[in-house]
Order: sequence, then structure tokens, then C-alpha cells
Amino acid sequence: MGAFIPRELIETIRGQVDLVEVAGEYLRLTKKGKDFVALCPFHQEKTPSFTVSREKQIFHCFGCGVGGNVFHFLMAMENLTFPEAVRQLAARTGVVIPVSRGADEQKKAGMESRLWEMNALARDFYRQFLHNRAEGALAREYLARRGLHKDIILRFQLGYAPAGWDSLIKYLKGHNYALEEIVAAGLAVASERGKVFDRFRHRIIFPIHNPQGKVVGFGGRALREEDEPKYLNSPETAVFNKRHLLYGLDLARPAIREQGFAIIVEGYMDVLSAHQAGVNNAVASMGTSLTVEQGRLLLRYTTEAVIAYDADAAGVAAALRSLDILCELGFSIRVVSVPQGKDPDEYIRSHGRQAWDSLVKNAPTFLEYKIEQASRVTGDKKKILQQVIPGVAGMTSPVEQEESVKLIAARLGLSWEVVKSELRRYQVEQRKKWPISDKIANKTHNIITDAKKIAEQEILRLILQNPGYLPVVEKELGAQFIENPLFKRIFKLMQQQSEKQGPADWMDELPDQERIVISRLLIERPPLGDSSEVLRDLIKTIKANDRMLQKDRLLQELARAEKNRDLERVNFLLKELEQLLSWPKREAGCAAEGGKELSI
Ligand code: UTP
Ligand code: MN
Repeated sequence: MGAFIPRELIETIRGQVDLVEVAGEYLRLTKKGKDFVALCPFHQEKTPSFTVSREKQIFHCFGCGVGGNVFHFLMAMENLTFPEAVRQLAARTGVVIPVSRGADEQKKAGMESRLWEMNALARDFYRQFLHNRAEGALAREYLARRGLHKDIILRFQLGYAPAGWDSLIKYLKGHNYALEEIVAAGLAVASERGKVFDRFRHRIIFPIHNPQGKVVGFGGRALREEDEPKYLNSPETAVFNKRHLLYGLDLARPAIREQGFAIIVEGYMDVLSAHQAGVNNAVASMGTSLTVEQGRLLLRYTTEAVIAYDADAAGVAAALRSLDILCELGFSIRVVSVPQGKDPDEYIRSHGRQAWDSLVKNAPTFLEYKIEQASRVTGDKKKILQQVIPGVAGMTSPVEQEESVKLIAARLGLSWEVVKSELRRYQVEQRKKWPISDKIANKTHNIITDAKKIAEQEILRLILQNPGYLPVVEKELGAQFIENPLFKRIFKLMQQQSEKQGPADWMDELPDQERIVISRLLIERPPLGDSSEVLRDLIKTIKANDRMLQKDRLLQELARAEKNRDLERVNFLLKELEQLLSWPKREAGCAAEGGKELSI
């Protein structure tokens, strides 16, 4: 990690670069109204949906949903960390970033850099044992037996962890690392009795790299069948989190970009065999079902994925669920089913590259695969439709959607009209629900009406476009009116900002979700002409909705009180109701921007 960079410097740098200029060095931008558009560099498309606003210094792609400020653009484009992107832009503006750090930052950065160093040392230590030591003989034989050639073993930096209890510990201590540090790096473990020993013993070592090629952790395969577990991995550390990594991505990046798609397999050995056969765009999810984070990581390089999981993979259902995640991120997916219950490693080794390529070439789309899987379980066409229609409804391209309807009709022997009407019915149902995403919305709040949900989003948009509205909204609705948790977080963030700054200035370190929604809200629709009027209507909607909810609540309480013959309570509630229902008289006028009266 780079040194701590002071806030003010980051702001100075941002102030001196123009996103349009920076993006223009990578993309062919054309002017469209006030904005610029280009073909999106982060997914494949034929018509430009990547939009840059000079005024707001923000970008957003309507196709794949990425968005952010100039730093995020560079991070995604060049695959950089935030500090790296800042430094790169600093270099072009001539701003000098001093190397001094805050005490905490310094400590953290120091600890992290020692972690990196230990990982690199451990990798070299294991490599040394595999290639140059007598103890490594069994491991060398094992790898040869599995058909791996020297060049691939070197390319993936494989190693061997010797069988002793503390060989690596001694080695690292020799390089002045303390026992606690070695444990924190996940390279040693402490037993319950307080004895500390090497985590990896008598195992083949697969170093796991981040996309930039630095070693962040290790996987270790047992040499003997009876050793458990088969693969032992590094524990989570400050730099290692399996959910955020794809094995082999550092080496597969160029091939993925070149070929326009990635092959996702399950295991280390699958990646090695694939690359050895020249299939260089293979990465592994390392056993677990794919995570959103892994999907996002891959999204930097491609939006097309071929999934090649073991045919006998425990639970096709689990696999399907993880593929849905990829779909939601905007991937088009095809699914390879490896024949004869083999895994890709075994298949490639026994059938060769060409057979593998044709499996990939003929792989069914995710939709076809889903239809096949569902048909296996049931003959009920209605049930099958129910399973596949949501995916079709989620497709962003109308052409793709139309093709899918045709395909489903053909496969199920239904007429095109039946499938189409089923799709429409589903879409209407969805639209009634939540305009953005059900998943984000808190499920417990289904009592909130659609109008309110839309009003929340639009109010947020207005405040983002015009921070001057924030006090009006706070005054009229308080700070708690937003129900959607993600919107609520964004609203809180806005409350913490000074009015002078636009979102591009304070979105630097926001989590992806927040940043992406803010960029979308800002770019999706231009600021409205007379927005104060719109704001007034939105506030009205939310208030009316609150009153409706409150009325329902009071009526329910009233029924209960009547049942209990609690006359006092009944009278009280009736009074409350009366007041609530006479609202137009009570609530005339509220302050708007610049003291203008907004009558509601
Ligand atoms: P597999 O059990 O399919 O192993 O697990 P494999 O990749 O085919 O390995 P070989 O051919 O038996 O040597 C797939 C992946 O799941 C993770 C590893 O990343 C492995 O490559 N895994 C598996 C673990 O992390 N721990 C385990 O105990 C097993
Ligand atoms: Mn295998």
C-alpha cells in the first residue's frame, strides 16, 4: 500500500484534472448534449452508453452500471488502487505528494508492507524446496504424475512446503520477522497449548496472487490422499480474502481482454491444466460458489463468462444461484458441462485442447442451460417458465430478450405469444414492486407504497443535483423519511458534506454500491427546469403516504380499543384521527429555497 495521502492534496489533484480529458485519452468521446458518450471500455457494446459529464466530473455507463469520478475511472481502466490512481494523476498535474504519514497510517502501512514481504519470502522459500532440495523429490514426482510441465510450474510459482514443524518459521525469523507477525500473515498457527508451527507442511504450494501479481496468500495441496483437508488455504489476513480474489487472474488478464471472455473453473489444478494447454483466459473461484465481489473484479476485464464447473458439483442449484449474481452484474454467461463427470483439468489432459475448445464453443447459454436443468426436474411447462422468465426480464438488451422468448417457446413447444405474455405479466408485476432492485430494498418494508419509493429516489436525485435543497427536505421531512437502506446511507453522506462540494469531490472512498447509485442518479436524468416545483410534489407524496400509514395504524388501534371497551383510548384515537384527516388546513405552507413559500 502506498503512503497516506492528505485529503487536501487529493482535492487539489482532482481540481486540476478534467475527467473528459483523462477519459478522452482512452476512449473516443463524442459530444451529446451537455455530456460526452463513448463505447464503454468495461463491457462490450455496439452503441455507446458510457456517459461522462464535464460539469459534474462524473461518469456512468447505462449498459453495465459502472460509475464514479476521475479516480475511479483510472482505477478501473488501469486496474489501480485508489492511492495509485491519485499518484498517477498527481504526476501529470505536477502536484508533489510528500511521503510523510500519520502515525496510525504509518503503522498500518508498515504492517501491511511486512505482510507483503513475508508472503514473497515464503513463496521463494517454498519454490526453493520444490526445485532445488532433496526434500522436494516427492512433490516433483507428484506434479509430474499430474502432467504439469516445468514452464507452467514456474509460471504459477508453485512450491513445496517441507514436512518439518517450523522450517518456514525459522527462515522468516532469520529475516527478522517476529513470531506474531508470521502468525498474523497466516503462515504459522498457534496450537491450543501455545506451540507455534508452520501452517503448511508437506504440501504442494499454490501461491495466490492479486490481479497486480503480488502474492496475497497460499493454497496447499496434500500429497497423501489420507491427509485432510485436501487443500489447506491461508486464513483471512489484511491482504487475503478468498471472496475477493480469482485464482490466476493476474496471468489471465491479457487473454481475457484479447479473447473477450473469461473461463471460470473451480480449482487450482483446472487453471493450471487450462493454461498449460494454451487456454490462458481461465481463472478459478477456488471452490466456493462465485461471489459478487469476484464478479465485480472480473467485470473490469470482460462481461462474458463461460462457467466450467465440475459436472458432479455438489448442488447445481447453488451454482445456478451464483450465476444469477453474475447475470445481475450484467454478464452474459455460457455453461460448459464437462462430460463423464470429469473436471476441466482431467478433461483437458485426456482429450486435449481442441476437444476443450469445442466444448466451450458449443456451450449453451445460461438460459438454455436453465431450461435443460429445469426440464430434468419437472415436465410442467408452467413451472419451467416460472424459473426462466425472471432472467429474461432482467436482460438489458431488447434484442437479446426477444431472442430469448423465441428460444424458450421453441424449447418448450409453446407459442411465442404465450411466452411473451408470461414475460409481460411478470414485468408488470415487477414494475409494481420496486423500480430499482428488490434486493437492495429492505423486504420488511413492503407496506411502503410504490409512490413513496419512487419519491425517495427522486428526492435524492434532486438533492444530489442541487445540494441547496437539502435544508428544505430536512425541514419538511426530517432526516428519517428514507426507507431504502442504500438511499438512506447516501442521504446521510450528503448531510455530512459542505454545500460547496459536488458528489465527485466526496465520493472517493465510498463503497461501490453507493458510488454507482450516485453516479447513476446524477447522469441518468438531467436536472429539471423548475425543480423546486417537482420537489414540492415529491414532498407532498411522501407526506401523504406517511399520513396514509398513520391512518391505517390508528384505525387498527381503534378497532383494538373498541374490542377492549377502552373508552378513554377510543376517544383519544378518534381525536387523533380527526386531526390527521383535517391535515390540509393545518399544514399550509413551508419554506422553500431562498425563502420562497412552497404551499403543500
Ligand atoms: P476439488 O475438490 O474439485 O479439487 O476442489 P481439484 O481442484 O479438482 O483438485 P485435485 O485435482 O483433486 O487436486 C476445487 C477447489 O476447491 C478448493 C480449492 O481451491 C480447489 O482447487 N478446495 C477444495 C479447498 O479450498 N479445500 C478443499 O479441501 C477442497
Ligand atoms: Mn481435479
